[in-house]
Amino acid sequence: MQEDRLYSDPALVDFYDVESTGRADFDHCRQLARGRRSVLDLGCGTGELAASLSGAAEIFGVDPAGAMLDVARRRLRGDAVTWVEGDARSVRLGRQFELVLLTGHAFQVFLTADDRRAVIQTIAAHLAPGGHFVFDTRNPAREEWREWTPERSRRTIEHPIHGLVTAWNGVERDPATGIVTYRTLYRLPDGVVLFADSQIAFPDREEIAQAIEGAGLAVERWMGDWNGGDWGLETLEIIPFGKRARDTLT
Ligand SMILES: C[S@@+](CC[C@H](N)C(=O)[O-])C[C@H]1O[C@@H](n2cnc3c(N)ncnc32)[C@H](O)[C@@H]1O
Repeated sequence: MQEDRLYSDPALVDFYDVESTGRADFDHCRQLARGRRSVLDLGCGTGELAASLSGAAEIFGVDPAGAMLDVARRRLRGDAVTWVEGDARSVRLGRQFELVLLTGHAFQVFLTADDRRAVIQTIAAHLAPGGHFVFDTRNPAREEWREWTPERSRRTIEHPIHGLVTAWNGVERDPATGIVTYRTLYRLPDGVVLFADSQIAFPDREEIAQAIEGAGLAVERWMGDWNGGDWGLETLEIIPFGKRARDTLT
């Protein structure tokens, strides 16, 4: 897995929170976190979600991108979270959590089935008895990458430091692997263009279901969006919500 400058370059990370607005996933996860004593946010990014869960006694956020975690540490209530620079495929924190989250389509940065299985095993390794997990991935059937062309994605951003910035994307999909490579570009008022190339996968529900079962987890509900709608063939998202399989026997 190559380093993605969208998350590792502070100049690009500066755009993450500006572009990350109207997050129904965060709202849903905050509801799920109510009354839980411990929460783990894998692929926590700039930490907006984890820092907003400060009601729980123990909150951990894990991400390999130091520049994203720098934003997380500086944020209001960022000191209530234990931030760990780590890889969700292999990290082992030696503790279990009542809720394990992986949101904002962070699951899609894992490009191979082996990597996705490893991440789901990490979820299983950190799930406390009776605890729940949830993560999201875009439904490949919706082919959302088709929207990420320069024409369709062009937008103006009001950035707190730079002022008005023009942003757009470019996209390419490898038909053999289904991996989508997209470019994110920002033109600053002085004409400088910042950009990064990112790769994401679009696994289908069957593969995810098998990996979940193989990790000793069980899905209680497949959602199709973060407003709580059920999964269906044409829903935008694939969102498994579940727990340890052995908990379903008690
Ligand atoms: C689209 S962002 C989502 C961030 C955050 N969850 C949110 O919803 O705003 C994807 C995140 O996955 C992180 N990531 C990339 N590789 C990872 C890995 N191997 N383990 C954990 N997180 C990873 C990136 O650094 C980035 O912060």
